[in-house]
Amino acid sequence: MKREEFSSSLGFVLAAAGSAVGIGNLVAFPVMASKNGGAAFLIMYAFFVFFICLPVMLAEMSLGRHTRQNPLGAYTEIGKNAAWRAVGWMSVITPFMIGVFYLVITVWIFGYLAKSVMGQLEFLAAPDSFGVFINSNELFIYMAVVIGLTFLILQGGVKRGIEQAARVLMPLLFLMLIALVIYVMTLENAELGVKFFLIPDFDKMTGKVLNGALAQAFFSLSLAMGILITYGSYIQKGNNIVQAGKMVAGLSLLVAACSGLLILPAVFSFNPDVQLSELSESSISMIFTFLPKIFLALQTNIGYLGASFIASFFFLLVFFAALTSLVSIIEVPVASLMDGKGVSRRTALYSLGGAMIVLAIICALSFGRVDLFTSLTSYGLGADGLPLAKSFFDLVYDIFYETILPLNGLLLCLFVIYRWKKHNFDAEISQGNSTFAGSLLQKYINFSLGTFIPVILAVIFVNTVATVFFGKNLLF
Ligand code: TRP
Repeated sequence: MKREEFSSSLGFVLAAAGSAVGIGNLVAFPVMASKNGGAAFLIMYAFFVFFICLPVMLAEMSLGRHTRQNPLGAYTEIGKNAAWRAVGWMSVITPFMIGVFYLVITVWIFGYLAKSVMGQLEFLAAPDSFGVFINSNELFIYMAVVIGLTFLILQGGVKRGIEQAARVLMPLLFLMLIALVIYVMTLENAELGVKFFLIPDFDKMTGKVLNGALAQAFFSLSLAMGILITYGSYIQKGNNIVQAGKMVAGLSLLVAACSGLLILPAVFSFNPDVQLSELSESSISMIFTFLPKIFLALQTNIGYLGASFIASFFFLLVFFAALTSLVSIIEVPVASLMDGKGVSRRTALYSLGGAMIVLAIICALSFGRVDLFTSLTSYGLGADGLPLAKSFFDLVYDIFYETILPLNGLLLCLFVIYRWKKHNFDAEISQGNSTFAGSLLQKYINFSLGTFIPVILAVIFVNTVATVFFGKNLLF
């Protein structure tokens, strides 16, 4: 059977941008940037996106398009030995497990959306609601809806499912983001937030900040998750990979920058005296505990109904962003099963989906409902000098999202340059791009992927293991 393809380069760009744009761009980035040097952070982040992340992105896309395979198939076909095949396995198990915890987060977002629409903003803004909500039975209703929607999109296949969803959701997402930015700019003291987001402070650029920024840029672009290999395998041979990659990176950056103009002004109009140190680095606590309070406070200006409307609008925006990321990550194991076992999309989706739902339910029960899953293990180092208690959710997050991703990225660079070989990689990019061969870009990509990018990823990997599992950050 002929492999499905995106209908055009734009179809790929929207789908890949849909994958890349998520809560990282919308919430984590603005907070990180304002705390760590404002515009200085933004400039450095943009530099990382184009000079370090883009080459990796192009490597993944080319590998996918060349082999017309999922990551496991691609590593097996070109690697030709058991070691590379093992790396291939790691590249499909990782997105499967990331899919599990991301499903849970998407369900929470959908739940907050539903509750804002149903007029329960007051509940969402109360101090303990998040804990109550994530342990409620209602959660499973929202889970059923999110799973249903995700399956519906994936069942439609590449063109009529993934691409079509991105063609509808991404333009809506951009419009909603712009509308919200315009709205918050009209609020009192909004300009204070813009200042904090944009005034550069170069003194804050420490090794730790640089490491955090690079890791954020890298994962936010969906790198090392097998997604761009898989989506790359659906790109037409005549499309220009370099141009498409630049557009995906640019769109993701644009959304991150615009989100800064949304979140920070909202925070400062809520409380002009807010200390940046009070803002949590965690997007989870920003979205689910801090922002609902801000939305509720809007009622003094626009009434409860108006405030609920703004909150619903915001959660819908975040939900669209999360849904397209969730779809992209689940497509990786689905494609692997279809390619590897020759089963239909439906069979692949139902068998993997079943396993994923069981694990997602275990995650959802690991916030206090079931002791075994809640206090599964402990490691690392807490403020009190003792190891931190870790739930099943924490464990999945720490192992797959924090630790294995940089390792996967590092192995991918080595694989493309030293196993697949530069000339094959260049030949693939050159299809659809006649000026690539011999260009400065070609030299830069080949050099960086074979030298300093894997070294940087190795440093991030080692430092993450030291920080997460041993409580020692090696960078200052
Ligand atoms: N888009 C997410 C973010 O910025 C990160 C991410 C990239 C992701 N690809 C993903 C998350 C796939 C889940 C699944 O927050």
